[in-house]
Amino acid sequence: MKAFFFFKMSYTEQAELTDLRALCAMGVYDYTHTMWSRVWPFTSPPLRLLEDPSRSNNDGGYILWPPALALAKYVEVVLGPLGRLEGRHVLVLGAGCGLVSLVCSHVSLCASVTACEHPAIFPWLSQNMSLNPTPEKGRKVQAVPWDWNDRPPLTIPSRPDVLLAADVTYNPKYHDVFLLTIVTLMQRNPYESVMYLFHDDASIPGNARHRTIFLTKARQAGLDVSKIDLENLVALRFSEESIHGYELKLMKPPKKEEEETVKAFS
Ligand SMILES: C[S@@+](CC[C@H](N)C(=O)[O-])C[C@H]1O[C@@H](n2cnc3c(N)ncnc32)[C@H](O)[C@@H]1O
Repeated sequence: MKAFFFFKMSYTEQAELTDLRALCAMGVYDYTHTMWSRVWPFTSPPLRLLEDPSRSNNDGGYILWPPALALAKYVEVVLGPLGRLEGRHVLVLGAGCGLVSLVCSHVSLCASVTACEHPAIFPWLSQNMSLNPTPEKGRKVQAVPWDWNDRPPLTIPSRPDVLLAADVTYNPKYHDVFLLTIVTLMQRNPYESVMYLFHDDASIPGNARHRTIFLTKARQAGLDVSKIDLENLVALRFSEESIHGYELKLMKPPKKEEEETVKAFS
């Protein structure tokens, strides 16, 4: 996968902290954990996320990927201010280093914030959660180990309202299980649940095609997919052409009268 973990001291200048690429490249050495950690300066206190590119497996859970940075910013500047998370049960899938989940708990008083990760990466997520204090007016992020191939754990909210995921659609091998996962979760709360999904065509070669394949399957699986306008993020230099955001909802079944009209004319 494409990686942005070349840390350069010149990028730590304050003036460059609002730039996605610069922020991707920004890190400080954490002497306690003897590894680099990224600083997210937009919350109070700022967040600290350990990253370990040297341990990166093919699934990239030890690194913060550009779509996660863009989604975290979207949470901060759109979902939070619009009140879309307030009082909602928020569930982050493939949470990786945990940035998106932590930002949710900072920008809104959610009913709960749950960050899920594959059991192999879960200790990493859990460590990053414990490095960051719970905000005074926020919820503690609950980290839960979950392989989507297994049944949803009982510890996640039974009826999640908002699902979030970044950079989890890059491998067509995972599309079916991921789709089944989100449809199953959304069916528990069919009229309220919404998912915000971010994808980066530049993550790996062929990823624009993987996006199209995923979206086609999502529509076939009964999801309404609409593209999110990321212009304001681009203006903030927090997104770019290769990053795409989508809002997914369960398609509404046809209304009873419409069904009857259809029957009458068929
Ligand atoms: C490229 S990483 C993205 C991490 C994070 N969302 C980000 O953008 O920084 C993909 C994540 O999906 C998770 N993942 C892949 N397959 C999974 C599965 N079957 N169950 C749970 N998580 C899975 C991986 O563990 C990894 O953390």
